[in-house]
Amino acid sequence: MLRMEDIDLAGKRVLIREDLNSPVADGRVTSDERIQASLPTIQAALDAGARVAVMAHLGRPKEGQPDDASSLKPVADHLSALLGKPVELVRDWIDGLPEIEPGHMVLCENVRWLEGEKANDPELAKKMAALCDVYVMDAFGVAHRAQASTHGVAEYAPLACAGPLLSREVDTLKHVLENPRRPLTAIVGGSKVSTKLGVLDALLDKVDRLIVGGGIANTFIAAEGHPVGKSLYEPELVESAKRLIAKAEERGAAIPIPTEVVVAPYAHSDALTTIKPVADVSDDDMILDVGPETRSRYAGLLEDAGTIFWNGPVGMFEIDQFAGGTRALAEAIAASGAYSIAGGGDTLAALRQFMMTDRMDYICTGGGAFLEFVEHGHLPAVDILEQRANDK
Ligand code: 3PG
Repeated sequence: MLRMEDIDLAGKRVLIREDLNSPVADGRVTSDERIQASLPTIQAALDAGARVAVMAHLGRPKEGQPDDASSLKPVADHLSALLGKPVELVRDWIDGLPEIEPGHMVLCENVRWLEGEKANDPELAKKMAALCDVYVMDAFGVAHRAQASTHGVAEYAPLACAGPLLSREVDTLKHVLENPRRPLTAIVGGSKVSTKLGVLDALLDKVDRLIVGGGIANTFIAAEGHPVGKSLYEPELVESAKRLIAKAEERGAAIPIPTEVVVAPYAHSDALTTIKPVADVSDDDMILDVGPETRSRYAGLLEDAGTIFWNGPVGMFEIDQFAGGTRALAEAIAASGAYSIAGGGDTLAALRQFMMTDRMDYICTGGGAFLEFVEHGHLPAVDILEQRANDK
């Protein structure tokens, strides 16, 4: 890939795709990790004397239907505060940007309002490309999406390169996946096996231990022949879970299944909770966290790990009384000497809640992109940058 650092940007029209997708409440950004992570790239382009336009998305709005709820206004305000200068938000930008002075920037309104963005429409991508001399793809969080602003534009822009954030994410993940310090332990939580089946399968070719959490773990508990009551699980994926357990055994890897769990009749902070062995889960129980014995077992597995990948909580951490398992995992990761990589919206929210974000060695800005990179070893938005570099 061409890298932004290797290109002279002075006076050039530089179009940067960032992932600034952030939670917003009452018109304000409530958590700015992604904006903070993108800032050095934007600042470097400004310092180099580029005329900068940043493309980004917020949420998943309907194309062709601009709405205030998905406007990037809160992000523009937040960026202005961080940069210490006003950031103009340009609403109608696709047919031509305003004049931008060297060392200044504008933010283009939600790129997902444009028809053809999702389908990677070549005509839309050409329009984007016409706005710049250099296109910089820096949005790791959407690098698994082949869309007009992440992929198509890279085909048509005069020069297309990777921004420092994208480069760092790809370099780090590649290095760790290719040469992990062992034992390599992955923690994959979340609600459904179905959405993460591919990544679980791919991880089992590489990891020494795979800790599963949340609804995924419930499906594995069912695969071991235990009752799961009213818990979130996928009966149709029980056979796949059995296959994954067998695959792990064949390789001498382990999928440690919870042995006792925290249950309640419903998922609420006022619900009465009980700790039970998995064999005793009743029809009215919902499994909402792993129990203390399982937490210690997991902590033991993390203690001597060489590398830890973490994506997804092991319980309903948003509710205090079901947060213990996820908190114990975070503490065990922080205490271990392993190189730890955490990614994904829920994982980062949990770390924020426990005020432990800075206890991880590496925070990945991608959720889906992180998992797809682990699963396939490459990402469409990176592939096209490599292709452009090889075409030269
Ligand atoms: C994210 O929030 O993970 C990224 O911004 C990607 O968003 P998307 O899943 O809506 O493409």
